[in-house]
Amino acid sequence: MKPIVIAIDGHSSTGKSTVAKQLAKALEYKYVDTGAMYRAVTLYSMRHNWIEEGSADIAHIINSLPSIDINFEYNPEEGTNDVILNGENVEREIRAMKVSEHVSSVAKIDEVRKKLVQIQKELGDQKGIVMDGRDIGSVVFPEAELKIFMTASAGIRAKRRYSELKDKGEDILFEEVLENVEHRDEIDSNRKNSPLIQSEDAIKIDNSNLSQKEQFDKIIILAKQKINQI
Ligand code: DC
Repeated sequence: MKPIVIAIDGHSSTGKSTVAKQLAKALEYKYVDTGAMYRAVTLYSMRHNWIEEGSADIAHIINSLPSIDINFEYNPEEGTNDVILNGENVEREIRAMKVSEHVSSVAKIDEVRKKLVQIQKELGDQKGIVMDGRDIGSVVFPEAELKIFMTASAGIRAKRRYSELKDKGEDILFEEVLENVEHRDEIDSNRKNSPLIQSEDAIKIDNSNLSQKEQFDKIIILAKQKINQI
């Protein structure tokens, strides 16, 4: 059976990575979380103090791109890939709320997108991959055999994210998380370069009222249908 490319795009905190990981495991495909790559560039920039509240030193970020090396390393405990930034495992740090607050400003820089999209295309050139992000079906793999567009109401997404962050011990208010989710939607959907859009050939899944299992069951059927068709 020929391997395919599965592109999963959608709003932040819709559980894209959860379902993408489940699919990759079930199909024995590679999984790539592209949001993690934008987060790693953001963390690098924050560590160099190029990002302050409300502003980013774009020139410095662009100039530093050749010195930023992003890789993935298999984590046997989680069964997933951790992000490695210049040799350092930053998987935990990139998920912090501070990084979430700034990542959209970094993700809208054309040069950053160009570099990361190039890496993403290379990672998927052998197919047999599930990749999640915002522009996978529209820009990275417009020819992907299966495209899913995931969404849910902002309130429900913020609730899920709030519980995740609380579980990780972050001291945070629900209102802050909701504001962050809405703010990222706004920037991700309205940026000039590769805005978050649903490709015409993508299948929309609103998971506001779906359990993780119901959602996975739906998508794995679609994936198997596609794999059997080609
Ligand atoms: O999926 P996530 O929340 O970890 O993504 C972090 C940010 O990166 C999000 O605000 C949008 C951006 N992003 C993007 O612009 N393009 C992608 N392919 C993936 C993420």
